[in-house]
Amino acid sequence: MPHTLDRGHMDTSPTDDPIFRPLTINGLTFKNRVIRSSLGGRVDYYDGSMSEGRIAWDLRFARGGVSAIISSNSGIRADGMAVPGYATIDDDRTIPSWRRLVQEVHRYDCRYIIQLHFAGRQRDIPRKDFVDIPPPSATSRPDLLYGLRARRMTIPEIEDLVQDYARAAWRAREAGADGIEIVACNGYILHQFLSSAINDREDEYNGDLRARARLTLEVLKAVRSAVGRDFFVSMKLSGRDEHNAYTAPLVRAVGNTLADTIELSRWLAEAGLDAIHLSQGDSFPHPLVPAGRLPTDDARRLFASLFYEGTRTPLAFLLLQFAPFRRFAEWNWGRRMPFVRGRDLLPDKIEGMNEDDAAKIKEASGLPVICVGGWQSAGRIREALEADRCDTVSIARGLLANPDLVHQFAQGQENPERPCTYCNRCLINVVQYPLACWEEARFDSREQMFHEAYSVYKEAAVGVREV
Ligand SMILES: Cc1cc2nc3c(=O)[nH]c(=O)nc-3n(C[C@H](O)[C@H](O)[C@H](O)COP(=O)(O)O)c2cc1C
Ligand code: SF4
Repeated sequence: MPHTLDRGHMDTSPTDDPIFRPLTINGLTFKNRVIRSSLGGRVDYYDGSMSEGRIAWDLRFARGGVSAIISSNSGIRADGMAVPGYATIDDDRTIPSWRRLVQEVHRYDCRYIIQLHFAGRQRDIPRKDFVDIPPPSATSRPDLLYGLRARRMTIPEIEDLVQDYARAAWRAREAGADGIEIVACNGYILHQFLSSAINDREDEYNGDLRARARLTLEVLKAVRSAVGRDFFVSMKLSGRDEHNAYTAPLVRAVGNTLADTIELSRWLAEAGLDAIHLSQGDSFPHPLVPAGRLPTDDARRLFASLFYEGTRTPLAFLLLQFAPFRRFAEWNWGRRMPFVRGRDLLPDKIEGMNEDDAAKIKEASGLPVICVGGWQSAGRIREALEADRCDTVSIARGLLANPDLVHQFAQGQENPERPCTYCNRCLINVVQYPLACWEEARFDSREQMFHEAYSVYKEAAVGVREV
């Protein structure tokens, strides 16, 4: 039955299959209920200028039938880029390239949402100009996983950051994007303020949840004044921090709980947010995101490339050279997670793993919820939508493995023939190697895997957009 929510601005007009039922939020219509979640990869130029590779990548998913694409994290300022080589939105000069990307994606009746990002402490690799300058954060303590250094921000720096978000949001609208997503999850700057496990300030930006949420609410307010009320603005949140996921029992802090995020979601709804995109975990990566294995053979190389970046990376690199330590790290990564039993991964428990939290946040806030987390089979997605536990799903790895997943569903296929195995090789390799599915078992041969991995560059180089 069509319905409208005052606050969420949501209208639906049903067709037989809930996956293909359009959804409208604040005037923005999604043609179906599958959104491509952000998939960062170092495919752009070092300074943040956009490459043809970025356009070729996003067009793959637009052609594959998703209703919208959320860009990979787009730095609102050069010192806030998580890794160099991702297209930024830190200057008015970036507007024409974003506009071109958006126009190309629109040709496939696909909406484009730009993700506004500032890494803060969780800056994996600084740009050369910021090497050895600790990034601004809510704390001066290094993070748990890598030991990435940080510097507690001053009040004037916080005020500047709020304006940087507003300016970036304005640029996104100028570029013709259909909306923006503000990153407030996975240990990036807004989450550093939000999280009780990370924020250790002694001023009005810390104390209770309301104080920790102050910066996030200030950013939302500034962004709204920059883009107006009639522009889609969503926020990616972590439902639960699970701060001690890979270190307990050594670390007792848990961080924000689902109850905290539910409370926050109510405030965000009152402050004019349009939708919540639900993730998990207070770092990236984290055992809860992307949920699955820690491929320690590949992680060895990652820690080598991060050797100088964190206080803990040299030790992790050395330990990972030895098989028993690698096995321990693999076990430790998943041991508290519901989708691991002994040494086995339980893929059924990964697919839709955030659905329960999404349903609670949706109910409490009244906001539409985009639920991410392991989705890749039509049946499971349909079930969640039918039960109204989320409004749409978003997919990262399932689409990286099968960019035409939505077309497969439309043709009646319930599950992809070669599903994503949640091996996380795509993620762990992304700092050093091209963004691609690196799970050899999914391909007929090693040669085919490399052929697929490099094919996006050929599409970009010759401008083949219609293949
Ligand atoms: C290679 C890779 C790059 C990612 N880049 C981003 C990013 O730039 N911004 C972001 O918010 N999430 C990013 N993510 C997280 C995904 O958007 C998604 O939240 C997560 O992978 C869980 O979804 P999935 O189970 O469908 O993969 C990335 C994930 C992967 C695997
Ligand atoms: S490498 Fe491929 S199979 Fe492994 S998690 Fe990434 S997309 Fe899935």
